[in-house]
Amino acid sequence: MDKIQFLREGIRNIRTVGTITRSSRFLCSKVLSLSNLNDSKCIVELGAGDGVMTKYILRAMPSDAILFAFEINPKFCQILRIIKDPRLHVIEDSAENLEHHLDKHGFKQIDTVFSALPFVMLPDHVSNAIVASCHRFLKPLGQYLQIHYSLLEKNLYKSIFGHVDITFHLLNIPPAFILACYKAA
Ligand SMILES: C[S@@+](CC[C@H](N)C(=O)[O-])C[C@H]1O[C@@H](n2cnc3c(N)ncnc32)[C@H](O)[C@@H]1O
Repeated sequence: MDKIQFLREGIRNIRTVGTITRSSRFLCSKVLSLSNLNDSKCIVELGAGDGVMTKYILRAMPSDAILFAFEINPKFCQILRIIKDPRLHVIEDSAENLEHHLDKHGFKQIDTVFSALPFVMLPDHVSNAIVASCHRFLKPLGQYLQIHYSLLEKNLYKSIFGHVDITFHLLNIPPAFILACYKAA
């Protein structure tokens, strides 16, 4: 998908996509540099869009790990399915149903969650339920990494994880915050 098609999809579905530009390669590299996927078995990406971050995650993850990429937009899912990598499972469903899909595939624990979900656009109870279920399934010291364009949702992560580390990244349109949380050991 090119930038213009992404822009159109973003404008058409602004309440769920939350942006009109995909993450820049600089932002994707920065997010990956904050993660450690060595020895991971199960990685989750929420709001995978057209797969820009997905490809970075696939490059960095072990050959025997699985990546579950959740995306509700059917056009983005079509593009994600073009990525031919047996480690990638594209899940055309809401992140709210994380537990159901982990169960179905026999996974009880997640090593790392990458999320670009536009929580600012979602009702508070939905955002809370999604982040709380990620926290529940993360392994001890497992990491949750979230991209946001503002810090309006910072307390959501603080209330669930107890802390949040924030990095500001200018090389993206718009400039973005990366919020990083760990599940206590
Ligand atoms: C800000 S875009 C991020 C796209 C891509 N990851 C990137 O970094 O460019 C957010 C994505 O989350 C998806 N999304 C919104 N609500 C969702 C939900 N409840 N479950 C799964 N995906 C969702 C949107 O369709 C959109 O593709």
